[in-house]
Amino acid sequence: MNLTVVGAGFVGLVTAAVFADFKNEVWVLDNDEGKIKKLSSGKIPFYEPGLKDLIIKNFKSGRLKFTTDYAQAIPNSEIIFICVGTPNKDGKIDLSYLYAATKAIAQNLKEPTIIAIKSTVPPGINQKLEKWMKKYTKGDFDLVSVPEFLSEGQAIENTLNPHRVVIGTEKRAVIKKLLKLHQSISGERLICDAVSAQMIKFAANTFLPLKISFANAIAILCDKFGAQADKVLKGLGMDKRIGDQFLGAGIGYGGSCFPKDLKTFIKLSSQVGYNFHLLKSAQKINDDQIDYFLKKLTYLIGGSLKGRRITVLGLTFKPKTSDIRESRAIAIIKELKKKGAKIHVCDPIAIPEAKKLITRVKFFENPYQALKGAEALLLVTEWEEYQKLNFQKIKKLMKKPLVIDGRNIYNREELEKLGFIYEGIGK
Ligand code: UGA
Repeated sequence: MNLTVVGAGFVGLVTAAVFADFKNEVWVLDNDEGKIKKLSSGKIPFYEPGLKDLIIKNFKSGRLKFTTDYAQAIPNSEIIFICVGTPNKDGKIDLSYLYAATKAIAQNLKEPTIIAIKSTVPPGINQKLEKWMKKYTKGDFDLVSVPEFLSEGQAIENTLNPHRVVIGTEKRAVIKKLLKLHQSISGERLICDAVSAQMIKFAANTFLPLKISFANAIAILCDKFGAQADKVLKGLGMDKRIGDQFLGAGIGYGGSCFPKDLKTFIKLSSQVGYNFHLLKSAQKINDDQIDYFLKKLTYLIGGSLKGRRITVLGLTFKPKTSDIRESRAIAIIKELKKKGAKIHVCDPIAIPEAKKLITRVKFFENPYQALKGAEALLLVTEWEEYQKLNFQKIKKLMKKPLVIDGRNIYNREELEKLGFIYEGIGK
């Protein structure tokens, strides 16, 4: 099929690369000329395992093409995916990219076309968008919703083997065509109206952080009652009705999706007269988690952090990505700076990105160098290499053997045997 993907961000590029690999002809369209030029020379703007190879392979085969020109891509496309950002600015969802993209698509429509929104959008927006588009075209189009559920760091695997493919339209011919396009992709299918599809995305992206905040609240109580959070949460997750995923306690969730979608959904709920207390509490628990983590540090280091050398391991919002948006590391580093600590930060890939955001810290790619002379190790992102550190070696490097584990990945007994003071969250 002839496809266009509007928006060369994370979701757009993964979607385009996977569909091109299934032998579709795919245009990737983005207003950002610099980005399109880079992509055309094989440069991917972020790190995602496997994506670069997939893009280069399909670009070389001629099935994947990049453009900034709507007139080049839109007229021959049977299906257009909208994957533009819907950021939250000052508590308000910013739909300007969505309106700009739908206008430009409408102005260039020639044949009957399916326009599938993958971006996370307010439930019910399609009616407004249809009216908007009809101002710019007399052409025939179906505006539907096919929400995206992929996670950074495992995006290709998630796209090929999703838990579900949600198709939000009630028109049979459109359903048939979208099912055909997705035929090489596994996972259950759910067909529903577009508003429900859009609700599913918000419900998923707010339920998961709710689960994480619940796990964090339980972990705090484990600290207070003297229970083991890892065991408690494992026992909780063994109940199949609850499930064991997204019950990892630690310093809380970050990234470009959960914090934004929670904020947006709370706002959208209040606009229709519903006060979503439950989500507000999840947010509050997440916000407080950094303070809880740093209080442990302050207590164990013996009071003030002024002038103390602290090493932060991990900058990204989770492992296997170069993304530092809303990363807990940034918030932690800001707090440490306020308290006058001397900070070393370490990350395997995000340093170039972080340098644009963080100043007055020393950056290291090598954790052992970052830990020389440190009075505390703060584990913030559970990169694989930080899970396998040689603590015997680290013991000799650090000035004080203190480990505060923000992701509960280390073994207390082993570290204590080596002479470390170890503190996790609820352990
Ligand atoms: C999230 C959703 O998981 C995807 O389904 C969704 O498609 C995506 O947002 C999106 O809307 O585009 P992502 O933001 O890539 O994906 O990352 P997650 O793996 O969900 O992790 C989010 C945060 O939660 C990370 O900071 C992670 O460290 C934290 N987390 C995750 C925990 O603190 N505990 C856990 O048990 C799991």
